[in-house]
Amino acid sequence: MAEIGETEQALLKEASKALGNAHVLWGFGVGAAVLTEDGKVYGGCNVESWVSGLGICAERNAINHAVLHGNKRIREVAVVTDAKNEGEIKPCGACLQYISDFAESPEIKIVMAKVEKAKVLFETVKVKTLRELFPEPFKK
Ligand code: THU
Repeated sequence: MAEIGETEQALLKEASKALGNAHVLWGFGVGAAVLTEDGKVYGGCNVESWVSGLGICAERNAINHAVLHGNKRIREVAVVTDAKNEGEIKPCGACLQYISDFAESPEIKIVMAKVEKAKVLFETVKVKTLRELFPEPFKK
């Protein structure tokens, strides 16, 4: 279990709320939340399509939610899935690139956790930096 503070708790709470709205057709539900430089938190869930490439991950939806509200600098990210889903939850490569595109620094935290009955399982929380998960983002 990682040591987390109030910011991480708030982000995980918003991500679990977003998880409740995930649109799942063939995969599993994911919830995310991003903290922007002005201290606001924006949630997002994954939205699947029967044509898999048309769907979108929770992390990118959370970032788009922030951008829609005029916030383009991301300070921290949380991502959650239900505990019944096996394996680790962590952003996919496409989301890591997208997070990098908007992150205020490569050192921002990515907080990952499992959720059971809408409650975060704090013993499952992992925290890594964006740089650790995605050391070489593409940039022109
Ligand atoms: N997914 C996310 O939304 N975020 C992740 O970090 C991993 C995967 C979605 C994509 C798809 O709708 C489902 O989870 C299963 O792959």
